[in-house]
Amino acid sequence: MSGMDDALTTVTLRVNRFTPRPERDRGARGGSPFAKKGGSPFGGGASRNRRPRGKQWTQEYTLRVRPEDTVLDCLLTVKRTVDPTLAFRYSCGHGMCGSDAVAINGTPTLLCTATVKDWAQRPNPFAQPDDEGFRHTGDADDETTLPDAGTDASDGLGVIELAPLPGFPVQRDLIADIDPMLDQIRKLKPYLQADGVLATTHDGKVDVFEYLQRPEQLAKYEMLSNCIACGVCEGSCPVFAGGDAFIGPAALIAASRFVNDSRDTATAARLDAIDTADGVAACQSVRACSRQCPRGIDVGEEMWQIVAKVKER
Ligand code: SF4
Ligand code: FES
Repeated sequence: MSGMDDALTTVTLRVNRFTPRPERDRGARGGSPFAKKGGSPFGGGASRNRRPRGKQWTQEYTLRVRPEDTVLDCLLTVKRTVDPTLAFRYSCGHGMCGSDAVAINGTPTLLCTATVKDWAQRPNPFAQPDDEGFRHTGDADDETTLPDAGTDASDGLGVIELAPLPGFPVQRDLIADIDPMLDQIRKLKPYLQADGVLATTHDGKVDVFEYLQRPEQLAKYEMLSNCIACGVCEGSCPVFAGGDAFIGPAALIAASRFVNDSRDTATAARLDAIDTADGVAACQSVRACSRQCPRGIDVGEEMWQIVAKVKER
């Protein structure tokens, strides 16, 4: 056996599968009872609240893997060699595009940066009902009280549970519809609105518009400009998941990025646009949005800062 084979072990992917009903059969019912009725200036609520109808089931795939493989590697292996019907989304494969956000073991994160060794978990035998249907409390590390886990998934590294990104309607299997988030970001005009200084060439011809800035001014928003609109912060936010009562942290990060940019001349309009009941006022400071941002943005802290800016006006 080669050294490479020696490093192989197994992992079981437990995947939430979903196949939607054909479009003509689907209604627009469902949604959170806490969702604000009436129109949001940011829109997108109706489609986000829609609970698509279709066939749902859980499917397990057990694979030979290396511990340092990513969960995306595993899904690509399944897609190419086991089950071509499995649907998931990805593009860059290394944490830059934000297209592959899902829930791994219930936590929103990116498939391409999550490794098997970090996310595989041993099944908790105490979560299994006994022969009489009771679940027992106990210490999963205490082998003297350990009941039979009753699953082959206890071999190898364990199980990784995969589901689509929470807070968004599922389209198919692990693909969530993130259009509501993108619509909200778009409505906040996520582009520079600035008065440039006209630069000319040595012979007096118009060359370029220059938007000058000092390094310390750049530092105020540079981290925010790293946002890749993956939706992980939105999927982690319990207020956003409640329906269209909140425009969501990703949209507020987009607004904050330009509010903090010294070149931007639309600060007042930007703060007005988020000074609404479903804007900054809806943020409950839970700070779950900060926990898994793949770009290292402290989203909760930025929410706090933009709320303060709106209040200070
Ligand atoms: S702030 Fe972070 S978690 Fe939220 S959308 Fe941007 S990159 Fe993703
Ligand atoms: S595939 Fe692009 S961020 Fe994961």
